[in-house]
Amino acid sequence: MRIDWTELPAEIRVAIEDHTGTITDVRPASEGNHANIASTVSGPHGSVFVKAARKVATDQNGPEVRSLRWESAINPHVSEFTPQLVGTAEAGGWLALIFEQVDGRHADFSPESPDLAVLTEVVNALQRTPAPDALKKYVERRWESVVQDVSPIAGDCLIHADLNPANFLITPGRVYLVDWAFVARGTAWVEPALLMPWLLRAGHEPAEAEKWLLRFASWADAEPDHLDLFAGAFAAKWKINLKTSSEPWAVQHARAAQTWADYRLG
Ligand SMILES: Nc1ncnc2c1ncn2[C@@H]1O[C@H](COP(=O)(O)OP(=O)(O)OP(=O)(O)O)[C@@H](O)[C@H]1O
Ligand SMILES: [Mg+2]
Repeated sequence: MRIDWTELPAEIRVAIEDHTGTITDVRPASEGNHANIASTVSGPHGSVFVKAARKVATDQNGPEVRSLRWESAINPHVSEFTPQLVGTAEAGGWLALIFEQVDGRHADFSPESPDLAVLTEVVNALQRTPAPDALKKYVERRWESVVQDVSPIAGDCLIHADLNPANFLITPGRVYLVDWAFVARGTAWVEPALLMPWLLRAGHEPAEAEKWLLRFASWADAEPDHLDLFAGAFAAKWKINLKTSSEPWAVQHARAAQTWADYRLG
């Protein structure tokens, strides 16, 4: 849940200003909601992007802070894709990550969008990048609550696992991926499979979206039974998620997941 910059305790603001100099302008990002702060922050040396989260107690991280620690640990290992982490600040019960500011636009995954070519390139680049040794998270763990044998989902590929349009920053010269909180190792087809709800939400029909995904070798070569298993698990997990979150984006995601499962499983 986002908060206003002025609600930050003075200790963390001072610690951030050790990196930025006196802050003169703060512009919150329009998208996302996990980090308590996600803002472009400007000072005498220019702008940076700050993501910050509150600990649940002085010596206890809580899920948002853990996500940021994980993002900061993985950032140097995925520099081909992500804005660079230029500093961290920790004070007053808060952790802040300071990234290079990227002035880019989000992607559009709708059926005729030229950004689908961008998406193809990014996924292909991710799929040929070996998972760094530092990546000690396993994507299949997310499905353990809804699948008895998660081994078909396990593997050693680098999986960003949250390629939604707002996690792309497209600039004239380069495409950046942000929001690495879910990055994990997994079997390669998981990345294209996780695109399904985003493609459906962008206006693709299930058959058309599945056909589009055939451009990825990992998807084209995946065992149909494994994709069935995943589609079912995905819908089941989102049904459970809706018990604790009824925010519109969660409802839309659960609906898209169910549409995909219905298409595959009848
Ligand atoms: N380095 C950056 N430069 C400019 N804008 C950024 C940068 N990193 C992130 N953003 C913008 O901020 C938005 C939110 O960032 P991000 O997705 O990383 O955080 P989040 O809100 O915590 O996560 P979630 O989207 O899961 O809620 C992104 O959609 C993007 O528009
Ligand atoms: Mg995001």
